[in-house]
Amino acid sequence: MTDRIRFILNDSPVEVADVSPMTTLLDWLRDSRGLKGTKEGCAEGDCGACTVVLEGGDGRREAINACIALLGQMDGRSVRTVEGLAGRDGAPHPVQTAMVDADATQCGFCTPGFVMSAYAFATGGEAADPGIIHDALAGNLCRCTGYRPIVEAMVKVAGLAPEPVSAPPARTASAAFDGTFFAPRSLADLLALRARHPEALLLAGGTDLGLLASRGRTPPKTVIHVAYVPELTAIDDGKDEIALGAAVPYVQATPVLVAAFPALRTYLARLGSRQIRTLGTIGGNIGTASPIGDMPPVLLALEARLKLVSLRGPRELPLEEFFLDYRKTALAPDEVIQSLTLPRLWPGEAFFCDKVSKRRDQDISTVAAAYRLRLKDGKIEEVRTGFGGMAATARRAPQVEAALLKGDFEGAARAVTRDFQPIDDWRGTAEYRLHVAANLLRRLALRVADPEIPVEVEAL
Ligand SMILES: Cc1cc2nc3c(=O)[nH]c(=O)nc-3n(C[C@H](O)[C@H](O)[C@H](O)COP(=O)(O)OP(=O)(O)OC[C@H]3O[C@@H](n4cnc5c(N)ncnc54)[C@H](O)[C@@H]3O)c2cc1C
Ligand code: FES
Ligand code: FES
Repeated sequence: MTDRIRFILNDSPVEVADVSPMTTLLDWLRDSRGLKGTKEGCAEGDCGACTVVLEGGDGRREAINACIALLGQMDGRSVRTVEGLAGRDGAPHPVQTAMVDADATQCGFCTPGFVMSAYAFATGGEAADPGIIHDALAGNLCRCTGYRPIVEAMVKVAGLAPEPVSAPPARTASAAFDGTFFAPRSLADLLALRARHPEALLLAGGTDLGLLASRGRTPPKTVIHVAYVPELTAIDDGKDEIALGAAVPYVQATPVLVAAFPALRTYLARLGSRQIRTLGTIGGNIGTASPIGDMPPVLLALEARLKLVSLRGPRELPLEEFFLDYRKTALAPDEVIQSLTLPRLWPGEAFFCDKVSKRRDQDISTVAAAYRLRLKDGKIEEVRTGFGGMAATARRAPQVEAALLKGDFEGAARAVTRDFQPIDDWRGTAEYRLHVAANLLRRLALRVADPEIPVEVEAL
């Protein structure tokens, strides 16, 4: 079964049959379609020069990095590039006019990406709030003149009424492109493919895997794209627990998670950029099993359980038992992560988390720490921790937890050296990491002593 990749590009339907589905969207736009307005800067998802916008049937417009998105991932979507912004009469889009009027057209590499991020922001109904504009621009780098005129232009176009979008082509059946890119639309098809192709890489948002095709130019040989399987994209915002499908992108998971665990608001806003969070998923963050991934420490503290499925049936595993060693997990070759479940906070429970990274935005953590606490009269009665960047996998810290239960925060800060022997790397030396983790525990002491301290204190 070999199908054509079908999607909408700048309001016109396209069908692609003669190009590998592992080609990046950026290369295809530039090389096959001659749409050179979308630029390549870093080719790693970092600079935003390649920003294009996905338009949902529900009218949502979300920025992505075309340099790390695979063509096969576009099937059934609607994509707008900077060439598709001008009106039918060729008149510039109001966002483009605002950029020109504010003298915000700086260098030719970054400007199209800035325009596309501004377009997604302007038509998303968001307020002209400096914090929101900062968030919308966090994935677009300028190293020449600065952001002031760009921000001025965005203030002018905030809340622009969006034009209706062209509905993406419907595809209800599973597809296979070029015999290498499988796009199942049902769990049964996904599990059958997984059993038949244990060598294939599972692809969710592709914000990790896409780097193979982009930066390394050695695209995966076979992938199974899990993003359209209903069981993996479901959200169950239940009374006692929240269940998130593994392929729910951050942009959809965030409102649910932040409502349940408010400390995640700042934390999730610093995970990648909007471009990354449009396609990136928590399932992919767990599947990557990076020791510095942002979600594992949080999910360990929150006592997450994973549902793993294969043709042999489902099994449930506490996240703690999933990470075995550096990038080694308990996932069997025929299994996929279907979902994760998080118990809500009970009355008397609190949750805090901190991320310390070299850059504020668009940077994975050097050290991350998360705590779920049961507090009574200012004393910790129960605690679960999760630390990232301190060992070969994200881990709990048993000796730190024992000291916290005694109310001994200085003892907990000292216990960091007994729980962890981190490594030196370019993000930080072992000594630095131990120091940071100890200081984060001192910050926790302040928070427990004074619940009035805002939970959204930012760690840099
Ligand atoms: C510019 C940039 C900035 C980033 N910033 C951050 C950051 O701040 N913090 C951070 O933690 N990460 C960051 N990342 C990394 C990445 O965005 C995250 O790890 C993201 O969560 C990956 O999700 P994905 O859906 O894109 O994964 P994919 O790339 O699709 O997959 C990642 C891995 O998970 C596996 N996988 C995916 N789905 C499943 C499943 N259902 N079952 C089993 N295995 C599965 C895949 O096989 C693959 O091995 C950044 C990446 C880039 C390019
Ligand atoms: S080229 Fe830099 S983010 Fe894509
Ligand atoms: S706009 Fe390109 S470096 Fe500033």
